[in-house]
Amino acid sequence: MSIAEKFVSMEYGPVPEDPKESLAWLDRHGRRFGLFIGGDWIAPAAGEYFDTLDPSTGETLAAIAQGGAADVDAAVTAARAAAQKWRALAPHARARYLYALARLVQKHSRLLAVLETMDNGKPIRESRDIDIPLVARHLYYHAGWAQLFDREFSGYEPCGVVGQIIPWNFPLLMLAWKIAPALAAGNTVVLKPAEFTPLTALAFAELCQEAGLPAGVVNIVTGDGSTGETLVKHPDVDKIAFTGSTEVGRAIRGATAASHKRLSLELGGKSPFIIFEDADLDSAVEGLVDGIWFNQGQVCCAGSRLLMQESIAETLIGKIRDRMSTLRVGPPLDKAIDIGAIVARVQLDRIQRMVAQGVADGATCWQPQMTLPSRGFYYPPTLLSNVHPTSIVAQQEIFGPVLAAMTFRTPREAVELANNTVYGLASCVWSESINVALQVAAQLKAGVVWVNCANLFDAACGFGGYRESGYGREGGREGMLEYMELSLFKHAPKLAASAIATPPPMEESVETSTPAIDRTVKLYIGGKQARPDSGYSMPVQAADGKLLGEAPLGNRKDVRNAVEAARKADGWGKATAHNRAQVLYYCAENLAQRRSELVQRLSEVVGEKQAAAEVELGIERIFSYAAWADKFDGAVHNPPFRNIAIAMNEAIGTVGVICPAEVPLLGFLSLVMPLLAVGNTVIAVPSERYPLITGDLYQLFDTIDLPGGAVNIVTGYASQLLKTIAEHDDVDAIWCCGDDALVASAKAMSTGNLKQVWTNEGRAIDWFDPKQGEGRWFLENATQVKNIWVPYGE
Ligand code: NAI
Repeated sequence: MSIAEKFVSMEYGPVPEDPKESLAWLDRHGRRFGLFIGGDWIAPAAGEYFDTLDPSTGETLAAIAQGGAADVDAAVTAARAAAQKWRALAPHARARYLYALARLVQKHSRLLAVLETMDNGKPIRESRDIDIPLVARHLYYHAGWAQLFDREFSGYEPCGVVGQIIPWNFPLLMLAWKIAPALAAGNTVVLKPAEFTPLTALAFAELCQEAGLPAGVVNIVTGDGSTGETLVKHPDVDKIAFTGSTEVGRAIRGATAASHKRLSLELGGKSPFIIFEDADLDSAVEGLVDGIWFNQGQVCCAGSRLLMQESIAETLIGKIRDRMSTLRVGPPLDKAIDIGAIVARVQLDRIQRMVAQGVADGATCWQPQMTLPSRGFYYPPTLLSNVHPTSIVAQQEIFGPVLAAMTFRTPREAVELANNTVYGLASCVWSESINVALQVAAQLKAGVVWVNCANLFDAACGFGGYRESGYGREGGREGMLEYMELSLFKHAPKLAASAIATPPPMEESVETSTPAIDRTVKLYIGGKQARPDSGYSMPVQAADGKLLGEAPLGNRKDVRNAVEAARKADGWGKATAHNRAQVLYYCAENLAQRRSELVQRLSEVVGEKQAAAEVELGIERIFSYAAWADKFDGAVHNPPFRNIAIAMNEAIGTVGVICPAEVPLLGFLSLVMPLLAVGNTVIAVPSERYPLITGDLYQLFDTIDLPGGAVNIVTGYASQLLKTIAEHDDVDAIWCCGDDALVASAKAMSTGNLKQVWTNEGRAIDWFDPKQGEGRWFLENATQVKNIWVPYGE
C-alpha cells in the first residue's frame, strides 16, 4: 500500500513488540522451571511438569513444575524458618527490600510486560502501561507501610506464614497485590500462581534473588488447583489470601473453617455500568471500552452489565456499536491492538457457551464485522441487548469481552437493578449531576464505585467486594490490616470449655407452662417483647445451682422474624453519626441509672465483683463507641490521577452476634455497641449462661431512641440458633464468640452466601481489659470500605 493510499484508509500497520529478550530469558532457563523454595530453584518432588502456552498462538512457551504435597510442605517449612527473622527485622530494613523490588520491577519492566503478554494474551499496551507500572506502584507504596509499621500499626503483629493463591487475569499485578502488603507487615509467603500464567511470578522470584531478599521470605510454588488446595489445607499456614472464582472461594472458606487461618477472598463480580441520560455519552462509551473490553473482559470488576436510562438507550447503543467497530482484535504483542487473546481454550469455550445461552434466553447478540486471527484463542467484542435481568448473562460472570445491556427509567430502578446480583465488587455511575452520581454511589452495594470513570486502581485505595464478591480489601491501610492481628487477641489463651454451658437436648427443656420461679423474660424483636415460637424455655441457674428463672428457647422462626425486623430498621444505618452517638450516650446514661439492680441480679451468676465490673465497664464501653460513632469516618485518597477516592467506612448491614457466655452484660455490649455505632442492625444471641440479661437489656433499649429492630435479642442455645442465622441470606455477617467448635461451625455454615465471619477464634478475650475488649479493631470488622472515585478537571 502506498503512503497516499494509507492516508486515505487510515489503517494501522502491524507494530509488533520484539519478544527477543523474553524468548532469550525462557531459553536461559532451558524452557523448564522448577519451584522457588527457600531462595533456590528446586525440582518438584514427583518430577511432574505441565506446559504453559502462548494463547495468541497456542504454542508451548515452557514446562512448569507441578507442585505436590511434598513441595508445598517444603515451601511452608522454608517460609516458617524465615518468619521469625523477617518479622524481627527493623521496619526500615523491610522497607528497603520492598523498595529494591520496586526498583527492580521498573528496571526490568519491558521484559516483564512482554512475558506477561506472551503468557496471558493481554495487549502489550496494557501490560506495559497498566499492569507493570501498577506492580511497581504497589511495591513502592508498601515499602512505605513497612517503614511506618511500628508507628502506624502499634499493637498489631503479622499473621506469620501466608498462603496466597492468584488467578491468571493479572498475573504479576495480583502477585504484587498479595506479596507487597504481606511482606510489609512482616509475614513470609508461599504464593501459587495460576496454572495458565506462571511465568512472571517466576521472573519475580529471580528479582527476589537479585534484591537479596532473605531465603524463604518469598516462595513460589507452581501447579494447578490441587496445589492450591494443598496449600489451603496445610496446617502450618496462618492466613490464606485468595483471588479467583467465587466457587473456589467458597471451597476455601469451607476448607479453612475448622482452623484459625485468617482469610481474605477477592472473588467474582457482575459489576453494573450505569449511564444516566445527562451523562457525557461519548466519555461514557470510552469508559465502557475500559470497563468491559480491557483485558478481553477477563476482569473481576469488569463493567459487564450496562444499565442505560431508557431515554438514551437507542442513541447510546448506536454509539457503542460504532466504537466497537473500531476496536482492533489481534496478536497482543502488536502495540496497536485493543483486544488480545483469551487466556485459554477452556475460557474461550466458556464464553461461547454463555453467549449462546444468553441468546437462547432471548438476548440480541451484536458483533462488529472483523476477521479474527486464524491461530490462537480470540473472541470478538460482543454486545448483548434486550437482556432480561434474570438471564444467565445478566447474573453470572462471563469473564470475556461481552457486554449485557439493560434499561432503567429512574435512579431508584437503576439502583435496584444494579444491586440485583449476588456480587458486589465494583460499579460505574455516569452522570453530569454530582448529586445524582453520589446519591446512587452511596446506595450501591459494591466495594468500589467509579463516578464518570472506569477501572482505575491505585495501591492507596482499597479494592475488594461486598457479598459474594468476597471479603477483605487489597491496597490502602485496610489492605494492610488483612495481614496482621492484634497481638493481645492473638496471644489470648484458649477459652476453657467450662466457661460455656452445654445445651441439654430439647426434650429436657422445661415447658413454659411450668410456673416461673423468679424471673421470666421474653425475646426482643422489632423493638417489642415477643413470646418464643417454640413455647419452650431454658432454665437459668445461679452460680450455686439455684434456679433463677427461665429464658425463652428461640427457634428458627424467631430468628427469621428478628432478621426481618432488622432489615426493616435500615433507618438506623441512614441516621447521622452524631445522632447514633447521641442515642448510645443516652443508653449509657440509662444503664448507669440501673446500676444497682443490675449488679444485684448479675451477682448471683458471676459474683459481686464481676457484676460490678461488668456494669461499670459496660457504661464506659458504650461511651467509647458513642465517642467513635462520629469519628470512625474514612479517608480521602489522592491517587496519582486527576481523581479523589473517597473511602467510606460503611456498615456491613445486618449482623448476627453470638455473645460470649462468660461475661453476660459486658460481652454483649462489647460486640453489639461497635456494630450499632457504625450503623449495622443486629440479631444477638445473649450469653447462654445468663440469658436473663435480655430483660435488663430490652428495658434499657426501650428507654432510648433506637429504632425498633435495630437490635433484636433471641435467647436460646447458641449452637442451635447459629445455624439459622448463618444460613439466612439476609444476614450479612456473623460475629461469634465461643469455643473452637462453635466458631468453626459459624465459619462452616456461612459458606453458602459467603458471609463475613469474625470470631474470637476460640480464645478467652479479656473483656475487662479495654485494650482487648474495645477499639478500632472491632470497628474495622464492623464496617467495609467503599471507595468512591470522583474525577475533577476538564
Ligand atoms: P479458579 O478460581 O479456579 O482459579 C484461581 C486460582 O485458584 C488458580 O491459581 C487455581 O489454580 C486455584 N485453585 C483452583 N481450585 C482451587 C482449590 N480448590 N483450592 C485452592 N486453589 C484453587 O478460576 P479459573 O478456573 O481459572 O476460572 C474460572 C472462572 O472463575 C472464570 O471464568 C471467571 O469467571 C472466574 N475467575 C474470577 C477471577 C477474579 O479475579 N474474580 C479470576 C479468575 C477466574
